[in-house]
Amino acid sequence: MRVAFVGKGGSGKTTLSSLFARYATRRGPVVAIDADINQHLGLALGATGQPRPLGGMLTEIKDYLRGDNPRIRDTASMVKTTPPGCGSRLVRLDDPFFPSSHIDGVSLMVTGPFGEDDLGVACYHSKVGAVELYLNHLVDGPGEYVVVDMTAGADSFASGLFTRFDLTFLVAEPTRQGVGVYRQYRDHATGFDVPLAVVGNKIHSPEDADFLREHVGDDLLTWFGHSPAVRAMEQGRPFALGDLEPTAHHALATMLDRLDAQPKDWAKFGRHAAEFHTRNARAWANRATGDDLVAQIDPEFVYGPAVTTP
Ligand SMILES: Nc1ncnc2c1ncn2[C@@H]1O[C@H](COP(=O)(O)OP(=O)(O)OP(=O)(O)O)[C@@H](O)[C@H]1O
Ligand SMILES: [Mg+2]
Repeated sequence: MRVAFVGKGGSGKTTLSSLFARYATRRGPVVAIDADINQHLGLALGATGQPRPLGGMLTEIKDYLRGDNPRIRDTASMVKTTPPGCGSRLVRLDDPFFPSSHIDGVSLMVTGPFGEDDLGVACYHSKVGAVELYLNHLVDGPGEYVVVDMTAGADSFASGLFTRFDLTFLVAEPTRQGVGVYRQYRDHATGFDVPLAVVGNKIHSPEDADFLREHVGDDLLTWFGHSPAVRAMEQGRPFALGDLEPTAHHALATMLDRLDAQPKDWAKFGRHAAEFHTRNARAWANRATGDDLVAQIDPEFVYGPAVTTP
C-alpha cells in the first residue's frame, strides 16, 4: 500500500511521514521516500547519512525497469510516465537495485536535493520522475507500505504522481491557508477519484479541532496536537516512538487502520497510468523523443500481483 503526505509548506508532512513510517513497521516492511526538494525526511527518521539519490540514477532506473519490453525502443524513449507492459521489469518493495539506507526498520530512499547543476537546466519534476517510475513498476501487497513525503502545496499535480497512491494524507494546520491547500487538493483529486484523508496537525485547542471539522467535514480523519516529544527530537534529543504522547499514538493507529482498510484498485491504477502517459506524450514527450510514445501503452498488460515475477 502506498501513501503520500501532502499539504502546505511547514504543515508537518515530513514529521508525520517519519512518524507514520516508523509506526507502520509494526505491521510490515516499510519504504519511506523523500520526494521533497528540501531533503529532511532522513533527518526526521534519525538517519545520519543519505542513500544514493534516485534523481541521479534516472538513466539506470529506466534501463532497469524497461527490461525487454518491445514497446520501449531505447532508454531515451522511456519517460517518467512510460507505463510497464509485457517484458517490463516489475519490482517488489525491497528490490536491491534501488539504493536505500535502513533506520529503525524503515528503508529510506531519496530523490536527492536540487544541485547546482540542476539550476536552469532541469526542474525538480525530473528527479521526482524517478519516484514515479518506481511506483509505476512496483507491485506491492497488503501489509507492505511505501510512505512518500511530497513537495509542498499543489506541486505534485504537475505530473501524474498524485494518482500513484492508494491513499493520500493531507496534513492541515487549523488555519485558512491550511484548509485552502486542502480545497485545492480535494478539487483536483476528486476529478481523478484519488482517495484523500485529512490529518490535522498542531491542533492546540478544541476550537482548532472545530475549525478543521467545520472546513474539512468528513474528510477529517484524525489529528495531532503540539507534540513535546517531536519538539525534543527537533532539538536533537534521542527519540523513540514510545516517547510520543498517547494522543499521537492514537492518531497514528487511526491512520494505519485507514490505509489498511483502503481497497487496492489495480485497474484504476492502470487507467491513470495510461491517461497521464498519453497527456505527457502529447504535451512534450513525443516532440522531445521524435517518437509516438502513446504506442508504449500495452493494452494487454494487467497490473497487480498476477504478473509478479518471483
Ligand atoms: N505535531 C507537532 N508537534 C511539534 N512540532 C511539530 C509538529 N508537527 C510539526 N512540527 C514542527 O514543525 C516544523 C515543520 O514541520 P515539517 O518539517 O514536518 O513540515 P513540512 O510540511 O515537511 O515542511 P516543508 O513544507 O518545509 O517540507 C518542524 O520544526 C517540526 O518539528
Ligand atoms: Mg518537509
